[in-house]
Amino acid sequence: MNPLSVIMIGAGERGLGVYSDYVKENPNDYKFTHIVEPNFEKRKAFAKIHKIKAKNQYETLDQIDFEDTKIDFAINATPDIEHFKTTNTLLTNKIPTLLEKPIGITYNECAELEKISKKHNTELIICHVLRYSPFYQTIKKIIKKIGYINHIKQVEIIGIPHFTHSYVRGKWRNSKKSGPISLTKTCHDFDIIQWFANSTPLKITSYSAKSEFINKIIDKTIPDYCLQGCPIGKTCPYNSKKIYLNNSEKSWMHKDLVINPTKDGIKKALLTTNYGKCVYKLDNNVPDNQNTNILFKNSITGELIMLMTGAKSNRKIVITGTKGVIRGNLREGIIYLNNEIIKLEKSNSHGYGDRFMLKEFVRSFKANKLNKLPTTISRSLISHKLAFLAEESRKSNELLIFNETI
Ligand SMILES: NC(=O)c1ccc[n+]([C@@H]2O[C@H](COP(=O)([O-])OP(=O)(O)OC[C@H]3O[C@@H](n4cnc5c(N)ncnc54)[C@H](O)[C@@H]3O)[C@@H](O)[C@H]2O)c1
Repeated sequence: MNPLSVIMIGAGERGLGVYSDYVKENPNDYKFTHIVEPNFEKRKAFAKIHKIKAKNQYETLDQIDFEDTKIDFAINATPDIEHFKTTNTLLTNKIPTLLEKPIGITYNECAELEKISKKHNTELIICHVLRYSPFYQTIKKIIKKIGYINHIKQVEIIGIPHFTHSYVRGKWRNSKKSGPISLTKTCHDFDIIQWFANSTPLKITSYSAKSEFINKIIDKTIPDYCLQGCPIGKTCPYNSKKIYLNNSEKSWMHKDLVINPTKDGIKKALLTTNYGKCVYKLDNNVPDNQNTNILFKNSITGELIMLMTGAKSNRKIVITGTKGVIRGNLREGIIYLNNEIIKLEKSNSHGYGDRFMLKEFVRSFKANKLNKLPTTISRSLISHKLAFLAEESRKSNELLIFNETI
């Protein structure tokens, strides 16, 4: 079978990274035949990599005549605030869509997209990539071995480089401009807890302790940009110099600073953009820690701990049942089933979920079975609702009843 024809909506960090890279490794699965990207430089860079004809390169979705265009499916990796509008257009034109999380920036947007998907009988699949990773897939397979589940504890350690990049200096630093961090980061983790609990939530409560970057009073001698000779630069763990220079591991971050990263380009960005700014002088308003507790209808309790701390991103899990305990460390690729050790590949904080999700998506598309995937819009809504409620509870200090809210 020929590779499927795909339209990429948004050639940013994800579009030019994960989705583009996949084609290089799996040329028979899909190929990009169309691109929509308002930024000229990114559009051209993406079109060049995938040899997309000039007539199939668009600034906006409105320029496309879908009646006259052969596309098998769309990948939507636009910024969160664009998800609703762009996905609505795709579904209305009956284009099956793989949509980046979060589905939308309000619960109403998310629920509305489910209705639109049903109305046009067109599948909408959400990039809850963790569900496809060998790590969480393995746990799902062995979970019955520990009997009746009592408690699921998921810990997400974002790590200082990633946290400061995305949630202090970057795209998700302010909940009014994107969404709360419970949605923009830990919707993945709510999704894992709900998937393992396999039940409807009844109650949820969430809180966070004082955050490092919100309303912190700092010395007047501290300059706006770290590279301007900051007096505490040597000891500051958030110094942009430490995070972006001498850090080749962080290439995905560099692409947010400059489209084609060079050392000079990165340095310039560190003196002119938020990515080089002092972490205490930004409009960041998302917490750097958050604890959430959930009670499910089947009496399982779920717990999600989100922390900034540490140098590296990671996820850990502990599931307690009547016949034992499952513990796992995603980055280390290790799962303990009581005393038995299951060793998987070491990985990043996605556990190679992106790659496995795309494989599954293509396989299911070809078999006309997208509706069987674990992350259809309908299967993803509950955990998104949890993410919105976690923020509501954190802000109101109230325990919320799942079915009476939003
Ligand atoms: N699944 C995951 O684990 C995961 C990880 C990171 C990011 N994300 C999500 O992926 C999405 C993209 O993130 P990113 O880091 O690549 O963002 P980005 O800002 O780097 O890229 C988004 C791109 O979309 C373009 N764009 C804006 N409006 C558009 C429109 N109306 N039509 C077409 N293109 C448009 C922008 O110019 C930009 O190039 C976000 O929703 C983000 O939350 C998901």
